[in-house]
Amino acid sequence: MSDGKKVSKSQGFRRTRRLRRTAGLRRLVQENRLDPSDFIYPLFLRHGKGIRHEIPSMPSCYQLSVDQLAAEAEELSNLGIPGVILFGIPAEKDPIGRENFAEDGIVQQGIRQLKAVDPDLTVITDVCLCEYTDHGHCGLINHGDPRPRPTLPEGAILNDETLEILGRVAQSHADAGADMVAPSGMIDGMVLAIRQALDQAGFEHLPILSYAVKYASSFYGPFRDAAESPPQFGDRRSHQMDPANQRIALREAAIDLEEGADILMVKPALPYLDVLSDIRDRHPEVPLAAYQVSGEYAMLKAAGQQGWLDERGAALESLLAIKRAGASFILTYYAKQAARWLRHQTKEEVLAAEV
Ligand code: PBG
Repeated sequence: MSDGKKVSKSQGFRRTRRLRRTAGLRRLVQENRLDPSDFIYPLFLRHGKGIRHEIPSMPSCYQLSVDQLAAEAEELSNLGIPGVILFGIPAEKDPIGRENFAEDGIVQQGIRQLKAVDPDLTVITDVCLCEYTDHGHCGLINHGDPRPRPTLPEGAILNDETLEILGRVAQSHADAGADMVAPSGMIDGMVLAIRQALDQAGFEHLPILSYAVKYASSFYGPFRDAAESPPQFGDRRSHQMDPANQRIALREAAIDLEEGADILMVKPALPYLDVLSDIRDRHPEVPLAAYQVSGEYAMLKAAGQQGWLDERGAALESLLAIKRAGASFILTYYAKQAARWLRHQTKEEVLAAEV
């Protein structure tokens, strides 16, 4: 400059890169972080002994018999994962799904075993009919001659008749020692019915995690192999939500809170981050769960196995995105793998980590 004054090179623009220059600075300004305590691990239980069946479409995930649960609980505890959600594959299926509320049902046995080996493990149970009914639907079906409800078509779901069963299932899980029940059927009134059933049975202290915002998603495909629960006719679009819709999710969330839900859930997770974020904004005071579902897991696994994606990077990035969008915690088949990835970082890796 002719007058000798130094002019800042930064004049006219801002330098956001300053805070990204070193790993230390990046860590300091990191807004969200993953921790093993963010995860709930889903478990699939089946009758028998010594069973550890890997699920073909979900590598590293297994159907387990109850005798495998002590080792499983120990592993989870060592990894710092606070809880599990249980799904059961019954010995027999029937139109109403009797094993669902049987004292010696597979999930009831699993709850007792897990609480016996590790009382600190939080045991959540999925409360739905689809794994237990021979038709594979999440409610009772209008079927027979004469039909129970002549005003509804053959094959329709009997919403209100299903509520009583859901209450019985929740109570039987509570009796076995569950810490929280999670109704997943998108049946109208399910949260209220379960709240009333639990209260009447003396379980007013047991929280309800409602799958309040559950979409009719193609990403549940691998789960239906794992839980052996595909619908035998039709689909779930009369109760699960239309993926095209966003605003009705706010209503679903508000209704479930009114009915007594303690925690809300959005499912699937990554394809519905907008919905997760909306609900987080609308209900900032409510714990919010997200379910990274079987199809999300299968996609990442498959691409990783092909060498098309860095599985660790992509999986941790997905989980972090779900947290960033507003999830308080995440139900994920990656729980154990992600906990290991987060744990086994060297100091250098921690400093270099983007997650
Ligand atoms: C219903 C239930 C399903 C899942 C969790 N609970 C299946 C469905 O609604 O079809 C899906 C979870 C996943 O895909 O990982 N009991």
